[in-house]
Amino acid sequence: MQKQRCGELSKAEVGKSVELSGWVDTLRLTGKISFLLLRDRTGIVQVFLDKVLTEKFQHIKAQSVVHITGVVHARPENQVKADMKTGEIEIAAASLEVLSMAEAPLPIEITEDTTTGLDKRLDYRFLDIRRQKVTDIFTVRSFVYSHTVNFFTKEKFIAIQSPKLTASGVESGAEEFKIPYFGKTASLAQSPQIYKQMFVVSGLERVYEIGPIFRAEKSHTTRHLTEFVGIDFEMGFIESEEDIMKLIEKYLSYVLTEIQKSCKEELQRLGVVVSVPTKIPRLSLREARKILKEKGKIIPEHEDLDAEGERMIGAYVKEKYKCDFVFMLDYPWTKRPFYHMRPEKDKSVTKSFDLVYKGVEIATGAQREHRLEILEAQCKEKGLDLTKMPFYRDIFRYGCPPHGGVGLGLDRITERLLDLGNIREAILLPRDPERLTP
Ligand code: 4AD
Ligand code: MG
Repeated sequence: MQKQRCGELSKAEVGKSVELSGWVDTLRLTGKISFLLLRDRTGIVQVFLDKVLTEKFQHIKAQSVVHITGVVHARPENQVKADMKTGEIEIAAASLEVLSMAEAPLPIEITEDTTTGLDKRLDYRFLDIRRQKVTDIFTVRSFVYSHTVNFFTKEKFIAIQSPKLTASGVESGAEEFKIPYFGKTASLAQSPQIYKQMFVVSGLERVYEIGPIFRAEKSHTTRHLTEFVGIDFEMGFIESEEDIMKLIEKYLSYVLTEIQKSCKEELQRLGVVVSVPTKIPRLSLREARKILKEKGKIIPEHEDLDAEGERMIGAYVKEKYKCDFVFMLDYPWTKRPFYHMRPEKDKSVTKSFDLVYKGVEIATGAQREHRLEILEAQCKEKGLDLTKMPFYRDIFRYGCPPHGGVGLGLDRITERLLDLGNIREAILLPRDPERLTP
């Protein structure tokens, strides 16, 4: 059993007996004695093996799981390792037991500067996680998740869990995974959109959901997955989409401030400095097109920004406003779903926005159209028939407050926060058109 934890030992324990369990990080033979680096999830500690133990255990393979008893010693002044948490001490082993011998060679390189490619690392993700950097990424992601829950709890949102087996969504049907369902065809939910709106209207007023979202998109990019985790919220009695954007500002400021506090060591090791936004600049798509045109990039009228356009706007905002985030406004009606509200004065755009974080879209939100006649007309304009979605149509029939909301991606937030360069680095087991295992 684990009695003490490797990374938590310090000079205060010098002279004490300890029992440690963990993985053999490395075993270094030096003449007749050896040094073993023992790792558990708290960190690494050096263990000294005398001549007798070395003779008996020099065949141990890296990554084997062992149990060690011993005594904590202070390292001589000239051997103190300042870059190691437990660098001032080492354990003189009294006994060593191999609980599970690892096979050799390992299928991937488990070193900080591994040369194994991402694809192979993902095939052996459970081994890849034995690298400090990867543990750090998922520790930060875990805290983004829990601070998100704390934020919405504080703001008095109700957590909902909506079905992922659905008849059909309200987003574009092309992105749905169809699966057989007792003689019918079901779709894996590609957004909790309908349900978020349904439960705002139900009287819960403010709801959020953190859950899986499935998209049957054959995209091979560094930002698209076929299954990702959405952070969705929806709220009633808003005046405009500005209310949603204000809450997102509050959310980001809370989560990023808390991350700075709870993940100090991880961020330092990952070399990431988090900058917390207070007021996020707003830029209309029209202005963005103008800015990009000056830089030689043409985005046609009524077209959305492409990946390069987003990257360029991200860089522009960083330089001009010293901010990692920007809200992009006034998305064309032709590019947005039928349920987005349009402003009275200009029906060519929608009351919607995208949020771009360091040059990548991490959220799309809008005020929703809650007036049934207008919603039906908007449906028609898009060549859809609302009567074919009766349970969605019903939401608007029995007292529906003005409302709006947003969908953010947890995987994209984590990827951008830590500058990982590929969304697959930010999720334990990615799913994309090529990958369905492990
Ligand atoms: O922009 P999306 O598609 O918007 C919706 O789903 C709306 N129903 C949200 C709303 O409330 N209006 O998705 C929202 C966010 C994206 O900004 C992105 O962060 C993430 O979900 N996302 C993906 N993440 C990884 N892989 C994909 N294929 C993603 N598609 C969207
Ligand atoms: Mg979007």
